[in-house]
Amino acid sequence: MKGIILAGGSGTRLFPATKGISKQLLPIYDKPLFFYPLSVLMLAGIRDILLITTLEDQSNFKRFLGDGSDFGINIDYIIQPSPDGLAQAFILGKDFIGDEEVCLILGDNIYYGNELVKLLNSGVSSASEDNKATIFGYYVDDPERYGVIEFDSYGKVASIQEKPTKAKSNYAVTGLYFYPNNVLEKAAKVKPSNRGELEITTLNNMYLEEGSLNVEIMGRGFTWLDTGTPESMLEASTFVEAIEKRQGLKVACLEEVAYEMGYISKSHLLHLAKKIGNQNYNQYLNQLAKQRHEK
Ligand code: G1P
Repeated sequence: MKGIILAGGSGTRLFPATKGISKQLLPIYDKPLFFYPLSVLMLAGIRDILLITTLEDQSNFKRFLGDGSDFGINIDYIIQPSPDGLAQAFILGKDFIGDEEVCLILGDNIYYGNELVKLLNSGVSSASEDNKATIFGYYVDDPERYGVIEFDSYGKVASIQEKPTKAKSNYAVTGLYFYPNNVLEKAAKVKPSNRGELEITTLNNMYLEEGSLNVEIMGRGFTWLDTGTPESMLEASTFVEAIEKRQGLKVACLEEVAYEMGYISKSHLLHLAKKIGNQNYNQYLNQLAKQRHEK
């Protein structure tokens, strides 16, 4: 399975903070925002990843990741000429995806919780074994800001509506999507919506109509944060800080995830630690190498 991180967009809701730099490069507590979704793809076992960025910031992302080999992954880059909607990712990423399944994650979404890997594995296997798409629903207070899941009286998914004026439930569709390879044909058929975007919701409704959409619910014990406003950026930083301080364990530490997943060796982990100027981060990686066994 291939992975795509969509990190384009002009970030106008965060102006002036994002006037000179993409939102996904801004920090959430101690690391750039895009590390969080990248770690999710890595935890799903995905090692071939396409990073879709703006023209201006592609080189900045490259400075962080290069070709990905430091983290035992392969990173490809492509520019999104204009932000024309989430489904555009499959048009831009067509050659990269080839004949594989694909997972798309938005570059500004943060996922945290015990069940994460289980949920990811279900998305991977539904796409590769059952030819089905998987999306995730999360209960929120302000569903109108998102794609919203409508359930029928039997609790079955009836439809998905993009940013409705009156939401039919509190379940928002999060920015994490797993698709079988036929997403390429379907994405090519998506027509721009009233707001002029190629909506991922149109694509998801195509799968729903043909009975091949799984909707998994991320429960109350799970955290999904998006970072669309200055307040939510700050809240996300405070959330990560609280967890990292309490446990002394990092969220979305790419070196740690790469080591835990067996993508890099202990000696490479120590080599990466050496290169990091930040003493706390450096000590954290050294501790990791000492305490945990290589897989
Ligand atoms: C997009 C999708 C929406 C989804 C949301 C998740 O919204 O269109 O369906 O719920 O991402 O973050 P947008 O980024 O366009 O606000």
